[in-house]
Amino acid sequence: MRPIRLLLEGFLGFTTQGKQKIEVDFTGIGQARLVALAGPNGSGKSTVMDNMHPFRVMPSRWNKPTPAGGSYWDQVVLGDARKEFDFSHDGKTYRQILTFRSTAKTKRAEAYLMVQDEMGDWQPVATPQGVSSDGKTDTYDTVVESILGKPEVFFNTAFSAQSRPPLSEMDAGEVKTLLSAMLGADDLRAKSERASSVAKMLNAALVQVQAKARSVPDDRQRQVEASTAKDRAQTRFDEASRLVVERERGVERATEALSKAQVQASGEEALVTKRKLLSDEISRIGNDRDAQVAAAKNAAQSQIAALDEQIAKAKDDARKAEADKAQANSQIAQIRTFLAGEEKIRQAMEQVAAIDRELERLRARRAELEKAAQAAQHDSASLAQLANKMGSIMADGKAMGQRIEVVRKTSSVMEAVPCIGTDLQSQCPLLEQARKAKADLESMESHRVQLRNSYKDIAAQHSATHKRVEQGSEAVRQSTEAQKALDAETTKRQSAAALAAQAERIDRERQVLEQATARLADSESRLTEAKKSLDTFGLRKTDVLRESSRQIAELQARLQERFDKAQANLNALAQPQAVQAVEQAQRDVSTAKQGLEQAKADKERASTELAAAEKAVTLAQAALAESEKAAKHAEAISLEMSHWTLLSKALGNNGIVALVIDDAGPEISARCNALLESCYGGRFVVRIETQKTNGNGDLRETLEIWVEDAERDSHKPLSLLSGGERVWVNEALVRAMALHVAASSAARYATLFSDESDGALDTERKRQFMRMKHAVLEQGGFEREFFVSQTPELVEMADAVIDISAL
Ligand SMILES: Nc1ncnc2c1ncn2[C@@H]1O[C@H](COP(=O)(O)OP(=O)(O)OP(=O)(O)O)[C@@H](O)[C@H]1O
Ligand SMILES: [Mg+2]
Repeated sequence: MRPIRLLLEGFLGFTTQGKQKIEVDFTGIGQARLVALAGPNGSGKSTVMDNMHPFRVMPSRWNKPTPAGGSYWDQVVLGDARKEFDFSHDGKTYRQILTFRSTAKTKRAEAYLMVQDEMGDWQPVATPQGVSSDGKTDTYDTVVESILGKPEVFFNTAFSAQSRPPLSEMDAGEVKTLLSAMLGADDLRAKSERASSVAKMLNAALVQVQAKARSVPDDRQRQVEASTAKDRAQTRFDEASRLVVERERGVERATEALSKAQVQASGEEALVTKRKLLSDEISRIGNDRDAQVAAAKNAAQSQIAALDEQIAKAKDDARKAEADKAQANSQIAQIRTFLAGEEKIRQAMEQVAAIDRELERLRARRAELEKAAQAAQHDSASLAQLANKMGSIMADGKAMGQRIEVVRKTSSVMEAVPCIGTDLQSQCPLLEQARKAKADLESMESHRVQLRNSYKDIAAQHSATHKRVEQGSEAVRQSTEAQKALDAETTKRQSAAALAAQAERIDRERQVLEQATARLADSESRLTEAKKSLDTFGLRKTDVLRESSRQIAELQARLQERFDKAQANLNALAQPQAVQAVEQAQRDVSTAKQGLEQAKADKERASTELAAAEKAVTLAQAALAESEKAAKHAEAISLEMSHWTLLSKALGNNGIVALVIDDAGPEISARCNALLESCYGGRFVVRIETQKTNGNGDLRETLEIWVEDAERDSHKPLSLLSGGERVWVNEALVRAMALHVAASSAARYATLFSDESDGALDTERKRQFMRMKHAVLEQGGFEREFFVSQTPELVEMADAVIDISAL
C-alpha cells in the first residue's frame, strides 16, 4: 500500500486551527525512503498520519485498531466532513471516500472504495465473494480487508500509532493474540471455532437421537411381548374355530335324531290326541275348581266383612253409650252432693238476717261509745290546762304572800315610831315608804283572797273534769271491744252470705238433675241395645264362618273328585314313547344350536383380539426399527462429532495456532536480534519463549519475551528494562514482526508508518534508531517509511520532509 493523495475536510485536527480543509500530495516525495512528517505539537501530524491508510480507523484515537474501536463522529465537525485517500496496492490504484453529514438531530455516514479501471474511471471495489462497496460501512470494511488483510495486523506491524501500547506492556495472551493475527492464525482459529460449533450442533442432534435410541431395549421387550400375546390370541382363535366346527356337527346330529323321532311319533297320533284332550279337561276342571272355591271364599269373606262392620258399629255405639252413662252419673253425683247442703243454705239465710240485726245494734253502741271517747279526749286536754292554771295561781299566791310579808314589815315601822297617831305621822317624809306600804297592804291582801278563791274554783273544775276523763277512758275500751265484736259478726256474715247466695242455684240444679237422670236412662237403654246387637252379629258371624267353611269343603271335595277321576283316566292311558323322544330330540337340537351360537360368538371375539394383537406386533416392530435406526444414526453422529472435535482442537489455540506461533518465535527473535546487532551492537539478545516446563516436567503453552543484557550479564523479561532500553528492544521487535509478516505470504505492505516512537531515546540512540529504520526497509524489502518525530536531528536525517504546519 502506497499513499498517493490525502484530502481531509471538516476534521477537528485542523478546524481547531482554522483550516477547513487540507490536502497532501505524496507523489512529490519521489524515491525518498525515510519521509518525516514535521511540525510543532498540535499542528496535525497525527491527524494526517492516522488517515494515510484506507481502514476506517484513526489508530492514535481509537481504543483498539478495528473500525469498532472508535467513531469518526468524534473527529469531525457538525455539518459536512469528508476524507478522500488515493493509494496504490498490487499494481492498482484505489480511492477511499468517507462522507459525514450531520445536523443536531441526524447523522449520516457513507464509505466507498473505488478502483481505477484501464480507462481511468473509478469503479466500486467488489470481493470475489460478490460483496461490492455500496456506501455502507460494513460492505466497505469487507472490501478493504479483502485487499489489505485485517486492520489488527496492519496496525501492529506496518503502522506504529502514537499512543499504541508497547509490546512490553502486553501480557502473554495479548502478545499471542497479536502474533496469531499477524501470522494469519486468526483464520485457523475462526475455522476451529466453526468446527467446534459444528461439533456442538452435532452434539445437540446426538442428544435427541440418543434419546430415541435409548428406547431400543424397551422396544425390543415390547415387540417380544406383543408377539407372545399374538401367539396366544392365535391359539385361542384356532381353538374357537375348532369348537365351531365340532358344534356344527353336533347340531347336524341332533337334527337327524329329531327327524327320526318325528317319523316314529306319527304312528302314535290318536293316543297323543286323546291324552291331549284329557289333559286339557284336567286343567279345565282344575281351573274350574280353583275358580269356584275362590268365588265361594270371596262371598263368605264379603258377608263376614259386612258383619264385622256392623259389629264395629255396635261396639262404637256401646262405647259412646258407656261414656254418656258415666258422664250422667258423675253429673248426678255432683248435683246430689250440692243438694245435700240445702238445709244449711236455708239456715245461713236466716242467720244472715239475725247477724244484720246484731250488726245494727253493735254499730249504734259503738257510735255512742265513740262520742263518749271524743268528749273524754276533749276533757283530758282541758284537764291539762286546768292543772297549768292551778300551778300558776299557786305560784302567784306564793309570790303575793312573800310580797305581803315584805310590805307588812315596811308598814310595821308606822306602829313603832314615836309620832304614832300624830299628824306628823301622816306627814313625816321619813315615813313616806311605810305609809305607802300600809296603803298597798290592803289591796294586796284583797288580791290574795281573790287568788285563793279562783284557785278553789279551778280546783273544783279540775276534779270534775278528772272524773269525766276517767269515765271516757272506759268508753274508749268498750268502743274497741264493740269494734271487735263488729268485725267478728261481719266475718260470720260473709261466710253465711256466701252460703246463702247458693240458694238461687238449688232450683237450677234440680232441673239439671232431671235432665241428667233422663240422659242416664237413655244411655243405659242404648247400651243394652248395642250389647244386644253385638251378641246378635257375633252369633251371625260364627254361623257364616261355619256354614261357608262347610260349603267350601263340600265344593272342593266335589270338584276334586271330578279332577281325580279325569286324572285317573289320563293315567290309565298308555304313555306315547316316540313323542317324548321327539321332545327330547327337539330340546337336544335347541341346546346344540345354543352351544353353536356361543362358540361362534367366542370365535368372533378371538378374531377381534387376534387382529388387535397383530396390529400391536406391527406397531412394536415399527417402533423397534425406528429406535434401532436412531441407534445407528447416533453412532454415525458420534463418529462425525469426534472428527469435528478433533479438527476444532487441531485448528485451535493449542493446535496448529500454537505450532505456527512456536515456529514464528525463533524466527522473530532472530530477526529482532539481527536488527539490534546492526543498530546497537550485540548488547541485547531477545528470546521469545512459546513453551514452558511446569512443576511436573510437562511442557505448556506460553508466550514470554526475555532479554539478555551482555554488558550487565543479566536475563530478564522485556517489561523490566529501563524506559529507553524498552524503546530500543520494542521497536526492534515490532519491526522484526513486520519483517516476519512481510516475509510470509499473509500480508505485504510496501510502506511503514511510525508516529513518534523515538521519544525516550538519547541522541546517540536516536541516530542508531534511524539506522535501524534503514535496516528494516532493507531487510523487509519495504519501499518507504513515513515517520513523525519531534527530534530535529532525526528530521534532518530524513530523505524528505512534509511540513504539516505549512499545509
Ligand atoms: N477529535 C478532536 N477534537 C478536538 N480537537 C482535536 C481532535 N483531534 C485533534 N484535535 C486537535 O487538533 C490539533 C492537532 O492534533 P494532532 O494530534 O494531529 O497534533 P500533532 O501534531 O500530532 O501533535 P503532537 O506533536 O503533540 O503529537 C490538536 O490541537 C488537537 O487538540
Ligand atoms: Mg501527534
